[in-house]
Amino acid sequence: MVPAPLEEPDVDSFEWNKIFGAALAGFVALLGISIVTDGVYATHKPEKPGFIVEAAEEAPVEAAGPAEVQKPIAFYLASASAEKGEAVFKKCAACHNNEKGGANGIGPNLYGIVGSAHASKAGFSYSDALGAMKGKPWSWDELNAWLTSPKAYAAGNKMSFGGIAKPEDRAAVLAYLNSKSDSPMTLPAAPAEEVAEAPAEEAAAAPAAGQ
Ligand code: HEC
Repeated sequence: MVPAPLEEPDVDSFEWNKIFGAALAGFVALLGISIVTDGVYATHKPEKPGFIVEAAEEAPVEAAGPAEVQKPIAFYLASASAEKGEAVFKKCAACHNNEKGGANGIGPNLYGIVGSAHASKAGFSYSDALGAMKGKPWSWDELNAWLTSPKAYAAGNKMSFGGIAKPEDRAAVLAYLNSKSDSPMTLPAAPAEEVAEAPAEEAAAAPAAGQ
Protein backbone atom coordinates (compact mmCIF):
# COMPACT_ATOMS: atom_id res chain seq x y z
CA MET A 1 0.00 0.00 0.00
CA VAL A 2 2.15 2.79 1.26
CA PRO A 3 5.61 1.29 0.57
CA ALA A 4 4.84 0.72 -3.07
CA PRO A 5 5.11 4.36 -4.22
CA LEU A 6 8.13 4.91 -1.95
CA GLU A 7 10.00 1.98 -3.32
CA GLU A 8 10.44 3.39 -6.80
CA PRO A 9 12.45 6.50 -5.90
CA ASP A 10 14.48 4.41 -3.47
CA VAL A 11 15.43 1.89 -6.12
CA ASP A 12 16.11 4.71 -8.54
CA SER A 13 18.52 6.57 -6.29
CA PHE A 14 20.09 3.27 -5.31
CA GLU A 15 20.70 2.50 -8.99
CA TRP A 16 22.24 5.92 -9.53
CA ASN A 17 24.44 5.40 -6.52
CA LYS A 18 25.67 2.15 -8.03
CA ILE A 19 26.30 3.73 -11.41
CA PHE A 20 28.06 6.70 -9.87
CA GLY A 21 30.00 4.38 -7.58
CA ALA A 22 31.06 2.20 -10.47
CA ALA A 23 32.17 5.22 -12.48
CA LEU A 24 34.12 6.54 -9.53
CA ALA A 25 35.71 3.16 -8.95
CA GLY A 26 36.66 3.02 -12.64
CA PHE A 27 38.17 6.48 -12.48
CA VAL A 28 40.12 5.63 -9.36
CA ALA A 29 41.32 2.43 -11.02
CA LEU A 30 42.47 4.37 -14.11
CA LEU A 31 44.18 6.91 -11.92
CA GLY A 32 45.89 4.09 -10.09
CA ILE A 33 47.03 2.44 -13.33
CA SER A 34 48.37 5.69 -14.71
CA ILE A 35 50.28 6.36 -11.51
CA VAL A 36 51.75 2.86 -11.63
CA THR A 37 52.64 3.10 -15.34
CA ASP A 38 54.15 6.52 -14.81
CA GLY A 39 56.22 5.00 -12.10
CA VAL A 40 57.26 2.14 -14.38
CA TYR A 41 58.24 4.45 -17.22
CA ALA A 42 59.88 6.93 -14.92
CA THR A 43 62.16 4.26 -13.51
CA HIS A 44 62.84 2.67 -16.90
CA LYS A 45 63.85 5.75 -18.86
CA PRO A 46 67.07 6.49 -17.02
CA GLU A 47 67.83 2.78 -16.84
CA LYS A 48 68.03 2.44 -20.62
CA PRO A 49 71.59 3.24 -21.70
CA GLY A 50 70.63 2.18 -25.26
CA PHE A 51 69.16 5.61 -25.91
CA ILE A 52 72.31 7.36 -24.80
CA VAL A 53 74.57 5.15 -26.90
CA GLU A 54 72.45 5.68 -30.03
CA ALA A 55 72.50 9.44 -29.63
CA ALA A 56 76.26 9.42 -29.19
CA GLU A 57 76.69 7.38 -32.37
CA GLU A 58 74.38 9.53 -34.44
CA ALA A 59 75.86 12.87 -33.46
CA PRO A 60 79.14 12.61 -35.44
CA VAL A 61 77.30 11.31 -38.52
CA GLU A 62 75.15 14.43 -38.60
CA ALA A 63 78.19 16.64 -38.25
CA ALA A 64 79.51 15.53 -41.64
CA GLY A 65 82.71 17.58 -41.61
CA PRO A 66 84.43 16.32 -38.47
CA ALA A 67 83.34 12.72 -39.13
CA GLU A 68 85.01 12.84 -42.55
CA VAL A 69 88.22 14.16 -41.13
CA GLN A 70 88.33 11.38 -38.58
CA LYS A 71 87.86 8.49 -40.99
CA PRO A 72 91.14 7.50 -42.61
CA ILE A 73 91.32 7.78 -46.40
CA ALA A 74 92.12 4.06 -46.48
CA PHE A 75 88.49 3.45 -45.60
CA TYR A 76 87.32 5.21 -48.76
CA LEU A 77 90.15 3.93 -50.94
CA ALA A 78 89.01 0.38 -50.23
CA SER A 79 85.95 0.99 -52.42
CA ALA A 80 87.28 3.79 -54.62
CA SER A 81 86.68 3.64 -58.37
CA ALA A 82 89.41 4.93 -60.68
CA GLU A 83 86.72 5.37 -63.33
CA LYS A 84 84.82 7.78 -61.12
CA GLY A 85 88.15 9.40 -60.31
CA GLU A 86 88.70 10.16 -63.98
CA ALA A 87 85.49 12.19 -63.91
CA VAL A 88 86.57 13.96 -60.71
CA PHE A 89 89.94 14.76 -62.35
CA LYS A 90 88.12 17.08 -64.79
CA LYS A 91 88.29 19.60 -61.92
CA CYS A 92 92.07 19.36 -62.01
CA ALA A 93 92.63 19.04 -65.74
CA ALA A 94 92.46 22.79 -66.36
CA CYS A 95 95.77 23.11 -64.52
CA HIS A 96 97.26 19.61 -64.50
CA ASN A 97 98.34 17.24 -67.24
CA ASN A 98 98.64 13.65 -66.00
CA GLU A 99 100.14 11.87 -69.01
CA LYS A 100 103.63 10.44 -68.98
CA GLY A 101 106.02 13.10 -70.23
CA GLY A 102 103.17 15.62 -70.40
CA ALA A 103 103.95 19.29 -69.97
CA ASN A 104 103.56 21.26 -66.81
CA GLY A 105 100.64 23.64 -67.00
CA ILE A 106 99.46 26.13 -64.43
CA GLY A 107 100.20 23.24 -62.06
CA PRO A 108 102.90 20.57 -62.41
CA ASN A 109 102.44 17.38 -64.41
CA LEU A 110 100.90 14.77 -62.11
CA TYR A 111 102.02 11.52 -63.77
CA GLY A 112 103.23 9.17 -61.06
CA ILE A 113 102.49 11.67 -58.28
CA VAL A 114 101.10 9.09 -55.80
CA GLY A 115 104.06 7.95 -53.74
CA SER A 116 106.51 10.34 -55.36
CA ALA A 117 108.13 13.34 -53.68
CA HIS A 118 106.68 16.77 -53.01
CA ALA A 119 107.64 19.62 -55.33
CA SER A 120 109.98 17.58 -57.48
CA LYS A 121 108.65 17.88 -61.03
CA ALA A 122 111.45 19.24 -63.17
CA GLY A 123 110.86 22.57 -64.77
CA PHE A 124 108.01 23.65 -62.51
CA SER A 125 108.38 26.71 -60.36
CA TYR A 126 106.82 25.80 -57.01
CA SER A 127 105.71 28.24 -54.36
CA ASP A 128 107.90 28.62 -51.28
CA ALA A 129 105.15 26.93 -49.24
CA LEU A 130 105.25 23.71 -51.27
CA GLY A 131 108.95 24.07 -52.07
CA ALA A 132 109.67 23.89 -48.34
CA MET A 133 108.25 20.34 -48.36
CA LYS A 134 110.43 19.23 -51.28
CA GLY A 135 111.37 15.57 -51.11
CA LYS A 136 108.73 14.53 -48.57
CA PRO A 137 106.73 11.59 -49.96
CA TRP A 138 103.23 12.16 -51.25
CA SER A 139 101.61 9.33 -49.25
CA TRP A 140 97.88 8.59 -49.45
CA ASP A 141 97.35 10.53 -46.24
CA GLU A 142 99.41 13.51 -47.40
CA LEU A 143 97.58 13.66 -50.72
CA ASN A 144 94.27 13.29 -48.94
CA ALA A 145 95.07 16.21 -46.65
CA TRP A 146 96.28 18.33 -49.58
CA LEU A 147 93.14 17.68 -51.61
CA THR A 148 90.86 18.25 -48.60
CA SER A 149 92.21 21.78 -48.31
CA PRO A 150 95.39 22.85 -50.13
CA LYS A 151 95.34 26.08 -48.15
CA ALA A 152 95.21 24.33 -44.76
CA TYR A 153 97.89 21.85 -45.85
CA ALA A 154 100.40 24.42 -47.06
CA ALA A 155 99.44 28.01 -46.32
CA GLY A 156 100.66 30.33 -49.06
CA ASN A 157 100.81 27.67 -51.79
CA LYS A 158 99.74 28.70 -55.30
CA MET A 159 97.22 25.99 -56.18
CA SER A 160 94.03 28.03 -56.55
CA PHE A 161 91.70 25.21 -55.69
CA GLY A 162 89.33 25.06 -52.73
CA GLY A 163 89.59 21.32 -52.17
CA ILE A 164 87.30 18.33 -52.56
CA ALA A 165 84.78 18.03 -49.73
CA LYS A 166 83.62 14.44 -50.27
CA PRO A 167 86.09 11.81 -49.06
CA GLU A 168 84.68 9.38 -51.66
CA ASP A 169 85.65 11.82 -54.42
CA ARG A 170 89.13 12.37 -53.01
CA ALA A 171 89.64 8.61 -52.81
CA ALA A 172 88.37 8.19 -56.36
CA VAL A 173 90.67 10.82 -57.85
CA LEU A 174 93.62 9.39 -55.91
CA ALA A 175 92.85 5.87 -57.16
CA TYR A 176 92.74 7.29 -60.68
CA LEU A 177 96.00 9.22 -60.28
CA ASN A 178 97.60 6.09 -58.88
CA SER A 179 96.78 4.30 -62.13
CA LYS A 180 98.64 7.05 -63.99
CA SER A 181 102.04 5.76 -62.98
CA ASP A 182 104.87 3.46 -64.04
CA SER A 183 104.66 1.79 -60.64
CA PRO A 184 101.25 2.26 -59.00
CA MET A 185 101.25 2.02 -55.21
CA THR A 186 99.37 -0.79 -53.49
CA LEU A 187 96.24 0.39 -51.73
CA PRO A 188 96.69 1.11 -48.03
CA ALA A 189 95.88 -1.54 -45.41
CA ALA A 190 92.29 -2.36 -44.56
CA PRO A 191 90.53 0.31 -42.51
CA ALA A 192 90.89 0.21 -38.74
CA GLU A 193 87.24 -0.78 -38.27
CA GLU A 194 87.75 -4.09 -40.03
CA VAL A 195 91.11 -4.68 -38.40
CA ALA A 196 89.45 -4.23 -35.01
CA GLU A 197 86.80 -6.84 -35.82
CA ALA A 198 89.20 -9.56 -36.88
CA PRO A 199 91.00 -10.12 -33.53
CA ALA A 200 87.62 -10.23 -31.74
CA GLU A 201 86.47 -13.04 -34.04
CA GLU A 202 89.74 -14.88 -33.63
CA ALA A 203 89.54 -14.53 -29.86
CA ALA A 204 86.02 -15.96 -29.91
CA ALA A 205 87.05 -18.82 -32.18
CA ALA A 206 90.29 -19.63 -30.33
CA PRO A 207 88.86 -21.49 -27.27
CA ALA A 208 86.66 -23.65 -29.50
CA ALA A 209 89.62 -24.47 -31.73
CA GLY A 210 91.79 -25.28 -28.67
CA GLN A 211 89.34 -27.89 -27.37
C1 HEC B 1 93.61 26.38 -60.68
C2 HEC B 1 94.66 25.46 -61.02
C3 HEC B 1 94.70 24.15 -60.29
C4 HEC B 1 93.70 23.24 -60.08
C5 HEC B 1 92.24 23.36 -60.51
C6 HEC B 1 94.30 22.14 -59.39
N1 HEC B 1 95.62 22.36 -59.16
FE1 HEC B 1 96.93 21.11 -58.26
N2 HEC B 1 98.36 22.50 -58.37
C7 HEC B 1 98.24 23.72 -58.97
C8 HEC B 1 99.46 24.50 -58.75
C9 HEC B 1 99.71 25.90 -59.25
C10 HEC B 1 100.30 23.69 -57.99
C11 HEC B 1 101.66 24.06 -57.42
C12 HEC B 1 101.39 24.65 -56.05
C13 HEC B 1 102.56 25.37 -55.40
O1 HEC B 1 103.67 25.32 -55.92
O2 HEC B 1 102.29 25.98 -54.37
C14 HEC B 1 99.61 22.43 -57.77
C15 HEC B 1 100.12 21.35 -57.08
C16 HEC B 1 99.50 20.13 -56.96
C17 HEC B 1 100.10 18.97 -56.36
C18 HEC B 1 101.50 18.87 -55.81
C19 HEC B 1 102.41 18.44 -56.93
C20 HEC B 1 103.87 18.26 -56.57
O3 HEC B 1 104.67 18.11 -57.50
O4 HEC B 1 104.23 18.24 -55.37
C21 HEC B 1 99.18 17.98 -56.44
C22 HEC B 1 99.33 16.57 -55.95
C23 HEC B 1 98.01 18.53 -57.08
N3 HEC B 1 98.24 19.84 -57.37
C24 HEC B 1 96.85 17.82 -57.33
C25 HEC B 1 95.69 18.39 -57.82
C26 HEC B 1 94.47 17.67 -58.02
C27 HEC B 1 94.28 16.18 -57.77
C28 HEC B 1 93.54 18.56 -58.45
C29 HEC B 1 92.09 18.32 -58.74
C30 HEC B 1 91.30 17.75 -57.71
C31 HEC B 1 94.22 19.84 -58.57
N4 HEC B 1 95.50 19.70 -58.18
C32 HEC B 1 93.60 21.00 -59.02
C33 HEC B 1 97.14 24.19 -59.66
C34 HEC B 1 95.90 23.58 -59.69
